[in-house]
Amino acid sequence: MRIIIYTGKGGTGKTVTSCSTAIKLAEHNHKTLVISSDPAHTLGDAFKISNIGYEMQKILSNLEALQIDPVTEMKKQFDTILSYMASVFSARGIDETLAYEIAMLPGMTQLFSLLKIEELVKLKSFDAIVIDMPASGEALRYLYFPKLVGSIGRKLTGLAGMFGGVARMFQPLSQVSMPSKGVLQSEVDLIDRLQYLSEIIRNSNITSLRLVANPDTFSIENAKRALMSASLFGINVDLAVINKIMPRQSSDQYYANWAEFQQGKVEEAKANFYPLPLREVFLHDTELRGMEMLTKNGELLFGNEDPGKIYYQGKAFNFLTEGNSLQMKVKVPFTERDDFDLERYGDQLTIKVRSSVGYIVNIIPLPSATLGMKLAKAKLHGDELNVMFEKSM
Ligand SMILES: Nc1ncnc2c1ncn2[C@@H]1O[C@H](COP(=O)(O)OP(=O)(O)OP(=O)(O)O)[C@@H](O)[C@H]1O
Ligand SMILES: [Mg+2]
Repeated sequence: MRIIIYTGKGGTGKTVTSCSTAIKLAEHNHKTLVISSDPAHTLGDAFKISNIGYEMQKILSNLEALQIDPVTEMKKQFDTILSYMASVFSARGIDETLAYEIAMLPGMTQLFSLLKIEELVKLKSFDAIVIDMPASGEALRYLYFPKLVGSIGRKLTGLAGMFGGVARMFQPLSQVSMPSKGVLQSEVDLIDRLQYLSEIIRNSNITSLRLVANPDTFSIENAKRALMSASLFGINVDLAVINKIMPRQSSDQYYANWAEFQQGKVEEAKANFYPLPLREVFLHDTELRGMEMLTKNGELLFGNEDPGKIYYQGKAFNFLTEGNSLQMKVKVPFTERDDFDLERYGDQLTIKVRSSVGYIVNIIPLPSATLGMKLAKAKLHGDELNVMFEKSM
């Protein structure tokens, strides 16, 4: 089975790329499901099919689509925990409706979407699942959530079990009843399910994260950051897609300027996503929507290839913590011989390299752990930049 997840900045084309990939997968005889947890009915908009809803909907003989509704999932699966959490808050004198609202802490919706994905993965009725992630780095964080909750949650549950339940944690705050066996059991189930999903997501033979960016500084930087976090969490990224590139053959100076600027950004993207393979997709002459255009777009993206292929396996970033220092190794597309300039601005390193299209800036996002550290040394070995950070005393 293959799980392909598209992520990237808002509006870059995650949804259309997911749909085009799914169509192509189906053409290659994979039984395919494309899912989205966007609050809006984005899949329906993309396929131009109005009734794609919270039930699975057949699009082609080999392709189904599903819009996940986190609220429904939450009610269906974890009402026990939620009612308990709500009771904790209402015991504090908070109105019950509001208590439910508060119990749906930020991130809960993403969490319930993940649980739905876990359910679908376990079903084993699809060869390929394409996931269209909602925009924002936050959303991506919840992809790593299983691992975090898995390890933290287990400890908490263990403790809770030992001391008689989660209520102990809230007891100093309010007069709350102990959680029932049901609540504790749902909590254990939830953690087990997240743990299972986490293993699937971190298995590079099953799951690939793919980055979608446009030929602009902001979305490239955003995607580069996603690549760094994915490396930190052990999720394999196998492809970068640069979407909405303006065609070059224009006689109008205005468009010619844009095309030239974007060409520079594409070169920059190649440096930024190195060593990932990169796909370039042109801006179609009208809004990309509907079966026909999505199919054509899949053709542009993958040609005759099977998009289920694993395009790359390996880590673009490597981290090693040792005492007071953190060593980061990043693959970069230049060598010692190149004329480059390295500078740190807060949470990023930039490398400026002279190239045939002028300077190319390679942005290297730094993990939060380096914020209190100073850059001690940086060295290039072959195509690997070796950066050492040290805790400032
Ligand atoms: N290559 C392209 N050519 C023409 N139009 C495109 C292309 N790629 C995307 N679009 C259009 O850009 C808009 C945004 O695309 P899409 O909804 O797939 O982005 P998204 O990353 O999923 O956005 P969001 O972050 O809001 O979920 C849509 O109107 C889509 O039709
Ligand atoms: Mg979208």
